[in-house]
Amino acid sequence: MSVAPDDFKKALSCWATGVTIVTARAGDRVHGMTVSAFSEVSLDPPLVLVCVDKTSNTHPLVAEGGVFAVNVLSRDQTALAKRFASKQDEHRRFIGLEYESGKTGAPLLVGTAAALDCSLVDAHEAGDHVIYVGRVEWMRSSEREPLIYHRTAYRVLADVNS
Ligand SMILES: Cc1cc2nc3c(=O)[nH]c(=O)nc-3n(C[C@H](O)[C@H](O)[C@H](O)COP(=O)(O)O)c2cc1C
Repeated sequence: MSVAPDDFKKALSCWATGVTIVTARAGDRVHGMTVSAFSEVSLDPPLVLVCVDKTSNTHPLVAEGGVFAVNVLSRDQTALAKRFASKQDEHRRFIGLEYESGKTGAPLLVGTAAALDCSLVDAHEAGDHVIYVGRVEWMRSSEREPLIYHRTAYRVLADVNS
């Protein structure tokens, strides 16, 4: 039984996610990309995972540098999400952008809802993606509301009044 790619994408787009920018560093080279495939994995030790396309520029940099940061975008950071997903000027994403280097050296963006600075502990090949597992070395969180992605659109949270 085969799954048609468009049907698969349509079904997956029903799943609402947050939006992150996964950043990496190897030496003085930094890069990053918009990622929704992020999850917590373990509390003790503190582990998270991200799924990264093998054809992306970010993939080899994570493998080489052995670190990555998960920048959880806030509701007013749609422009950043688009910038780090676009293949136009992809090597200029950090130009003019304010960021600091985390404990691991991975770039931490400003104004995010949260940031998790990770050292790479495991990598699993999974089809056309690699699942990178990171140990959280440092983190910060805020009261900022997150950016949401659902049915290929950026959205914000709403309360349900019961
Ligand atoms: C909302 C959104 C979520 C995305 N999530 C992922 C993801 O989880 N994993 C992935 O490999 N690409 C994801 N992408 C696509 C990458 O951001 C995009 O291909 C990017 O240009 C890759 O950059 P790079 O090749 O310079 O590393 C997502 C794109 C968008 C708009």
